[in-house]
Amino acid sequence: MNTKKNIEEISTDIIDDILDKIRYVPTGDNSQHWNFKWQKNQILIYHNKERAKHILNDHFHASLLSLGCIIENIDISAKFHGLDFHVDYFLEDLTQDLLATVTLFTMPTDPDMLYPFIEKRETNRNPFSRQPLKEEWLKPVMQKFTKMGVNIHSLERPDKRFFKFLLKCEQYIWFNREVLLDTVKWIRFNEGETIASRDGMNLENVKLKKIDAYFLKLFRQSAFLQKLVWYFGARWKVNFDAKSVLKNTSNFVCVTINDTRALSLVNAGRAMYRTWLVLTKNNYAVQPMTIASLLPYVMHNKSYLRGCNMSFTKSFADAPKILKKSFNLNAENPVWMIRTGGANPLDPGSRTTRRNIKDFML
Ligand SMILES: Cc1cc2nc3c(=O)[nH]c(=O)nc-3n(C[C@H](O)[C@H](O)[C@H](O)COP(=O)(O)O)c2cc1C
Repeated sequence: MNTKKNIEEISTDIIDDILDKIRYVPTGDNSQHWNFKWQKNQILIYHNKERAKHILNDHFHASLLSLGCIIENIDISAKFHGLDFHVDYFLEDLTQDLLATVTLFTMPTDPDMLYPFIEKRETNRNPFSRQPLKEEWLKPVMQKFTKMGVNIHSLERPDKRFFKFLLKCEQYIWFNREVLLDTVKWIRFNEGETIASRDGMNLENVKLKKIDAYFLKLFRQSAFLQKLVWYFGARWKVNFDAKSVLKNTSNFVCVTINDTRALSLVNAGRAMYRTWLVLTKNNYAVQPMTIASLLPYVMHNKSYLRGCNMSFTKSFADAPKILKKSFNLNAENPVWMIRTGGANPLDPGSRTTRRNIKDFML
């Protein structure tokens, strides 16, 4: 018996809900660099390259991780509504906008228990309380993704060398002018900017005070002032805050892949998104640590990282060794890492906002 039905028989409420939930996936700096088209029983996923443009996303590796978050998000919300799905990827040429089509069909499936956490998931950049996570939480995620060549590793105590490397990575944005300018583009300095754009990150979200915002605006105007303030003060504060955040972390969780295919990065994104939701369900907060994990991968993969100075080039060159030793890896490539621990959810006012679904639709 063919249990597949055409999506046209599926209620528009369900279609609307699946599309609505997609909005909540994380994107770098909340740039929301996706567009969608709904066609018969398919969701077409387009990369909005203008929005995705960022020196930290030079080869679109971060976009591929975010695409993985979208696919896993659809997996969860589709199953919640008794639907299954099939994905066709178009990843050979990332200059093209259409990256995937997801075909949905009705099929008796177990509802996914992570559905209620799609809207609760958030990025939390605060210090966390240290309460080691339970390995058993991640086991089902590991089981699902080992088949796709993705593994998940967790670490409680970083050794000195790893800690020093993480601390240095926290300086990357401030040290490097192009990275700073591309990031500041997505900072919303007041409520009016947040309401008007419904994207980016407000000051509280990135833990900046009004005075920091004042300096950021100065840095935006002048490279000289950026250097001056960095050497005569900012670097001590950045270092002090970063130490507190890194020390107050229960676990670092790293996703690894076995090869360098674009599809493997998408699958790594899927695994990390599911991990993120599992941690959210267990009241654990999450902050991605992309500079320390993805940038070394990109540098090795592409042999060059645009905008990276000598000192960071050396650190990123050494990073795979440090990560492999810390997470006890063999040949696998670490690609995306998060820190996690106990924390209260963010205040509603400091959470990121999303554009309306009609703004995503083509
Ligand atoms: C691929 C990717 C990389 C990210 N890297 C970082 C990071 O290095 N540091 C960080 O604090 N947040 C990082 N984020 C989190 C985003 O800034 C965050 O998801 C976005 O602002 C939306 O906020 P939300 O996660 O609270 O919904 C990353 C997100 C994605 C998808």
